[in-house]
Amino acid sequence: MCGIIGILERKNVAPMIRKSLKRLEYRGYDSVGVCTVHEGKLHIKKDKGKIDEIHARLNLDDLPGSVGIGHTRWATHGAPSQVNAHPHTDCSGTLALVHNGIIENFQELKNKLISRGHVFKSNTDTEVLVHLIEEEYKEGVPLEEAVRKAFQHVEGSYAVAVVSTKEPEKIVCVRKESPLVLGIGDGALYCASDIPAFLEYTRKAIILQDHDLAVLTRDGFRILSLKTGEPVEREVVTIDWTAEMASKGGYPHFMLKEIHEQPYALADTLRGREFYIGLISWLIENSKKVFLVAAGTSYHACLAGAYMLSRLAGVATIPVIASEFCEKYGDSVDSDTLVLAVSQSGETADTLNAVRYARKRGAKIASITNTLGSSITRYSQVYVLTQAGPEIGVAATKTFTTQLATFALISLKLAENLGNSAFDLRAIREELKAIPSLCEEVIRINEPRAQQLAKRYSTYENFYFLGRGISVATALEGALKLKEISYIHAEGYPAGESKHGPIALIQDNFPCVFVAPNDVTHPKIIGNIMEMKARGAKVISVIEEGDREVEELSNDTFIIPKGVSEVLTPILFVVPLQLFAYYCAVERGADPDKPRNLAKSVTVQ
Ligand code: M6R
Repeated sequence: MCGIIGILERKNVAPMIRKSLKRLEYRGYDSVGVCTVHEGKLHIKKDKGKIDEIHARLNLDDLPGSVGIGHTRWATHGAPSQVNAHPHTDCSGTLALVHNGIIENFQELKNKLISRGHVFKSNTDTEVLVHLIEEEYKEGVPLEEAVRKAFQHVEGSYAVAVVSTKEPEKIVCVRKESPLVLGIGDGALYCASDIPAFLEYTRKAIILQDHDLAVLTRDGFRILSLKTGEPVEREVVTIDWTAEMASKGGYPHFMLKEIHEQPYALADTLRGREFYIGLISWLIENSKKVFLVAAGTSYHACLAGAYMLSRLAGVATIPVIASEFCEKYGDSVDSDTLVLAVSQSGETADTLNAVRYARKRGAKIASITNTLGSSITRYSQVYVLTQAGPEIGVAATKTFTTQLATFALISLKLAENLGNSAFDLRAIREELKAIPSLCEEVIRINEPRAQQLAKRYSTYENFYFLGRGISVATALEGALKLKEISYIHAEGYPAGESKHGPIALIQDNFPCVFVAPNDVTHPKIIGNIMEMKARGAKVISVIEEGDREVEELSNDTFIIPKGVSEVLTPILFVVPLQLFAYYCAVERGADPDKPRNLAKSVTVQ
């Protein structure tokens, strides 16, 4: 996730761009860049680091000109560095471009462009875009047409803004699967990843749709179809957010915003990175012992991951809580061991400690992390980045579902390599592609229910979250979410194990949340629900649409669209539980973004 801004004004834009980037900094903060167009030249300052420190060093405000673009980066392709920072320029120094998103076919495009003589300066996927536009930007072709033609070759997600020295009073921007909004000011126009970037300058905005191309000039703006070049109409909306709401994209809390970002985060995570997914699955296949090591929510992803690897590929792995790893399994670690460490931050001390320990004993290290350049990436022979973007709320939400999606990709790859899966792998791959839009539907269906149920249940002090099979991971995660942000005592358990002790607590009105997909565990979980119901429990269940049997046994339900394969269920079934925890915290007057005693990254052991 990165942040982009473009401003066309009647005064110097560089200081305005810097301020806008500051408001977009939550989207990425490893590099910054600004480009203005003035007197037939591009004026660029960019570097690795945070906006304030770069501004103190380089003075971003003194770039001349009343038209410019800016970018704040969250590295995906290419490490944070001066050359990889946006804006990127073409060979002739005519065009400059900023981008948020991922270009899936960048390597193929890059090879073609190199063979046509283009010289690349960075390791980013983005740079292909500016060279592609250069190819189309011939004498007499307006910038918007060159951009439109160039993007016919591009696969992936993008929000892009481009400027040119040949048409210095114009910004062209395009959008597909990455957010982009226009701001309509008094004699000024803006484009940005997010409304807060220009809210200080205007409250009138247009939310661009996928495949929109917008042309901003002194005469106003035009929106065209990226596919056909035909004009399209978009509504102008007036934004009435407070400054605080604006910093959270209009949501009252980062956690809610991040829950809503999951469809995008999943879509970005599911594209690309096949090479690294392949390497990790190869390492799993070629190691005698495989430990999946993590803490908290990331550990729950490992529990589900172990299940996916076993069911799809028939490979047994051992999920371990990082702080227990050395004592429990330390002696068995050797050069035939693979530690696959999972950490959103890549900085969790317990996980790093386990990794360092395993490295010393000769184990191979692989990781799944959301943070490029984090310590865990430096210790790993290979790592896969989830593409969730920065997660500011302390409670992990979008990083959990993107970790699950990554495990699904690894498991599928491994199963395909081994060639002995009992599952229709191709069908599961197809389903995985639909997961982002299903996730959107899950949020739409269940958010009002979560609000309602939070009103009904947030005064209770104890909860069980129960599931079987892969849904144990979902249940544990649901319980962790509720307890960490609403301070309600919640325990997650394998439902089958609940009769070996936990059931003793059940009496009238004790709330039990059952994660009950229509998978192989369905008949057995019905028995578990009945056991609890018979003792007076209130049953809240997360079920598939049309599951009348469990619905009739439940006091309340969350509904998930039908027909998702067992191994993918946690990605969708956890979402209502995130929403439920969030609304319970709000009902109880707790701040879901900053739960007491917790930090986003736990760097002590
Ligand atoms: O950054 P990590 O994934 O290594 O963090 C591990 C845990 O501290 C983290 O998942 C924690 O449990 C979450 N904040 C819970 O929502």
